[in-house]
Amino acid sequence: MNKKLISPANFVGLGSVQSRVVMSAMTRNGALNHLATPQIAEYYRKRAAGGVGLILTEGVIIDQSGDGYNNVPYIANDEQAASWTPVVQAVQAAGGKIFCQLWHCGRISHTDFTGGQPPVSSTSRAAAGINRQNNKTFGIPRALTVEEMPKIYKMYREAARRAIAAGFDGVQIHMGHGYLADQFFDSRVNDRTDIYGGSIENRCRFGVELLREVLAEVGAEKTMVRISPSREMNGLYNWINMESMLEYLILTFAKSGLNMLDISCANADYYKTSARVIDIVRPLWQGIIIGGASLSPEQAEEELSSGRLDMVTWGRALIANPDLVIKIKEHQPLINFDRAMLSELI
Ligand SMILES: Cc1cc2nc3c(=O)[nH]c(=O)nc-3n(C[C@H](O)[C@H](O)[C@H](O)COP(=O)(O)O)c2cc1C
Repeated sequence: MNKKLISPANFVGLGSVQSRVVMSAMTRNGALNHLATPQIAEYYRKRAAGGVGLILTEGVIIDQSGDGYNNVPYIANDEQAASWTPVVQAVQAAGGKIFCQLWHCGRISHTDFTGGQPPVSSTSRAAAGINRQNNKTFGIPRALTVEEMPKIYKMYREAARRAIAAGFDGVQIHMGHGYLADQFFDSRVNDRTDIYGGSIENRCRFGVELLREVLAEVGAEKTMVRISPSREMNGLYNWINMESMLEYLILTFAKSGLNMLDISCANADYYKTSARVIDIVRPLWQGIIIGGASLSPEQAEEELSSGRLDMVTWGRALIANPDLVIKIKEHQPLINFDRAMLSELI
């Protein structure tokens, strides 16, 4: 039982991992002046020492114009990138691999976080609701112009270059959860009438062009993309025309050379969301698929055996159990996650 999950594996591109357990990206608001700290290094080191094969960092902001959160790390300059080197070295010394999640919040932001400039998006309509980071309504965004896209791609590209120079094993481009790239994918948000809006091909253009730029910078062995076509977002939420969207996007990603895909459902029920997405994606995609969300070890093993997943992600369970893989191996009970655990980086 749990043989595949906890055993070392070797993937074309990614290389060898000590287990098929992946730590999901989780924002912890613990950066100091947007730098990674020794506490952050110790937090990730513990998870690698506990047997995690691949760690995906919390979202790391690629430029201040893409920030929307309190005390999150940046990788917008060399000093910020260098602050990650001790983190990366600690994880790798403990046997883990670590990718940097590249994050641009788009309109899920406010001038409080962007240095006074309006947030940018696919649209000039504000996101509904209150930003819990500052208890204000989300800022009114400025729709990016066609001429500005290369500038945004350059931010990602340079962030990716800095991440690899800092020693990361790769980068994960965050294209899910309603952030910038998703604001282009999603027909309920994207109201453009130019080549970045309207048809499926046009709504996918931002993500596809962005991916090509990052691939050109760091290569397919170091590039993963996270998408979330079906997820929890004030209830269950699916892309409109999900099947046609996926067919176009996944085939285009594959043609670009992408080999690693993280299919997220945020904190929804995996079986009602990502599992259905993966059933559509699998026949179109030869590369690695990672996914999950609070699966039991037995469910995870089943997803690996059936071939739906190549690696399984856990988020909150890894906050509660840094030694998750050891506990699974030794059939020890897991500690339940409690929101109070978020107040400390341990
Ligand atoms: C505290 C917290 C912060 C999160 N921050 C991020 C993030 O920065 N980037 C991201 O892609 N997902 C983020 N997520 C979503 C997780 O990566 C994951 O998809 C989700 O927690 C579901 O997995 P789980 O049920 O195993 O926790 C966050 C989740 C939590 C609980």
